[in-house]
Parts: sequence; structure tokens; C-alpha cells
Amino acid sequence: MHPRWKTPLTDLLKISYPIVLGPFGGGFSSAALTAAVTNLGGLGSYGAHHHTAEEIEAVDREIRSLTSGPYCINLWMKKDEPDFPMDEAAFDRLKTLFRPYFDELGVPLPSMPKMNVKTTFHYQVEAILRTRPAVFSFVFGIPDPTVMRALKQRGILTLGGATTVDEALALEEAGTDLIAATGFEAGGHRVSFLRPAEESLMGTFSLVPLVADRVNVPVIAAGGVSDARGIAAAMILGADAVQVGTAFLACTESNATPLHRETLFSKKGTRTVLTRAFSGRLARGMASRISEETSRHASDFAPYPLHGMFIRPLQQAANAQHREDLITFWAGQSYPLIRHRSAREVFNALVEGTEKIWNA
Ligand SMILES: Cc1cc2nc3c(=O)[nH]c(=O)nc-3n(C[C@H](O)[C@H](O)[C@H](O)COP(=O)(O)O)c2cc1C
Repeated sequence: MHPRWKTPLTDLLKISYPIVLGPFGGGFSSAALTAAVTNLGGLGSYGAHHHTAEEIEAVDREIRSLTSGPYCINLWMKKDEPDFPMDEAAFDRLKTLFRPYFDELGVPLPSMPKMNVKTTFHYQVEAILRTRPAVFSFVFGIPDPTVMRALKQRGILTLGGATTVDEALALEEAGTDLIAATGFEAGGHRVSFLRPAEESLMGTFSLVPLVADRVNVPVIAAGGVSDARGIAAAMILGADAVQVGTAFLACTESNATPLHRETLFSKKGTRTVLTRAFSGRLARGMASRISEETSRHASDFAPYPLHGMFIRPLQQAANAQHREDLITFWAGQSYPLIRHRSAREVFNALVEGTEKIWNA
């Protein structure tokens, strides 16, 4: 074991390697992938923002049946969701925008949804308090002090996502134990919460050293780390660990569809875009016909979660009909660096490659 793997984060979590699996919300995480990364000596994570409290408890049981090591469950702070019943005018604008694609796939447009209170943060976090994962990570905000206290009382470590130095300082001030400094290279949503995402576009290379210089808690570099060079660089920049998303999303253990995983290896178009077209919130994925065409009418986009209510059924139909042009493939900017198809291969390549760089 190379001595440089030991950091304040590995000490705190009692893990061998400062390699964190990025959580994937929306159904892309799997208990198998989470447990695999923990069993390899890193910190496995599971994105649960779309789950009810009961589903979170079931996933927790599944992960515990696969590993006895520490893992992390991730939720979104959802205070900015629109109140239900939702804005009918915005819903109608989305209907007009998406109708041609639903017609093309021959599936019906969704009707006005009802609020599912069971997937609000308030219910979800109760499940976290009951199941007590080693780490609870959150993005898009900071839980209120009562929740932060309850987590601490139960010995659950907190990990918050920051996209700017100010967000990192706010997380530290609120007593967060670990901070994921997330550059705009990352796949998935831009998890900004103090200023609009468009005004919080820092790259990992700038963000990590700035955050590391200002906070006293361990810093995890997220965004663009897809091979060993990324780990070595992030640690030189002051990170105590890295959070790897896209490279693990491409593994057979993830819940991405086989087509999604294959597309991550295809290097067809190496262009990713930061767009609101995927969900209504600014997020990174591969450019596709659906994102390009709908982005021309961005003024008709509605905030999350309304937008996603059209994207979800559209994705189901597009996947069933193998219509790649209408699928939103989530990916970080560095996805063309991906080489490996199992969690073990990815993890070992990261560890061995980084040690090779350190020993050179
Ligand atoms: C499909 C997908 C879903 C994601 N969902 C979440 C999520 O729900 N919560 C979260 O904190 N991060 C989420 N992320 C971000 C990852 O956890 C991770 O920070 C990011 O992928 C790291 O950058 P990389 O993609 O360049 O490796 C998601 C990323 C992807 C690709």
C-alpha cells in the first residue's frame, strides 16, 4: 500500500483508498456497484433522491447484504421545487415543445402529475436517520441545523457538494464533515445552491485548490477524474480524495442501460453539453438530437421536476425503440478516457496507474 493513499479522509472513514464512487440519482446507481467499490477499499455511494423512504430502507438492506464496509447514501435538497399543483401554463408549453417527439415515438403525452410527498426530503431523510449509513451526502443545498444535529447524534458523517468557494465555506460553517468540490466537467447536474448554476461554472482545476486553501475539512475532487492522471493531479491540487462518476457509470454493475454503457465507449461524438434540456436543471450529458433541438426553445423549458416528467416517459419509449437520437446519455466531459467495464477493473486501473505515477 503506497503511503500517499493515506489522507485525513481515509483516516476518518477507515477506508484503504481515497476513491469515492459518485452517487447516481434517477435510477443509475445500483447496490451491487455501491458495495463493489466499498469492498475494493473505496467509498461506494448510492443516489437515492428519486426513492421513497421505504425504498431507501430496502436499498440500504440490499447494500448491507453485499458489504460490511462503509458506504454513502445521497439525496437532493429540494426546497426549490415548485409548489404543487404545478403551473398549468408551463405544463402546456412543455406539451407543445415535446408533442412532436411523443408523436414520433407513438406514445401518449403525460398528464398533469400529482406531488409525491413520499419523495420529499423531509420523508427521505427520516430513512437515512433510521438506517444510519456511514456517510450521508447531499447536494443543491444544506440540511437545516436540526437535521445536521440529528445526523451527528447518530454518528452519520455528512458530505456536501460545492460548486464554488462560497458554497464550500457555507457547508463548512454548517458543520459538514466532508466537501465534494465539483467542477463543471462532471456528468450529471450542476449542484449549485447559493447562486444560479450558470453563475457557478468553475472547473475542477481551479475549484479544488481554492477550496482546499479555505476549508479545514477533507476535500473531495469531483468532475473530470476518469483515469489515474486525474487522481494524481487532484491530490497535487490539494484534494484528500476523488469522486469518480462517469467511469463507474460505464461498468456492468451500474444501472445504466447496455446502450448507454456502450455509447460511453463509442467515442462517436466526444462532445458533451451543459444544458437544461435533460431535466429542467443545468446538467451535463452527451449532445443529442433531443437536447440540441429542444434547447433552441429554452424559454419554454420549465423548472425541475416538471421538465423531467416529459423526459422520463420519452426516455423509456426511446430506449424501448432503440432511438439513440432521442435518448439523453448522461456523461462527464472526460468520458472518452474510459477503458474498463467492471468496477474491479476501473478501481484497479485507478490504483495501479496512480502508484505508477507516484513511483516514476
Ligand atoms: C447519471 C448521473 C447521475 C448523477 N446523479 C447524482 C446525484 O443524484 N447526486 C449527486 O450528488 N451527484 C450525482 N451525479 C454526479 C456524480 O456523483 C459525480 O460527482 C460526477 O459524475 C463526477 O464527475 P465525472 O462524471 O466527471 O466522473 C451524477 C452523475 C451522473 C453521470
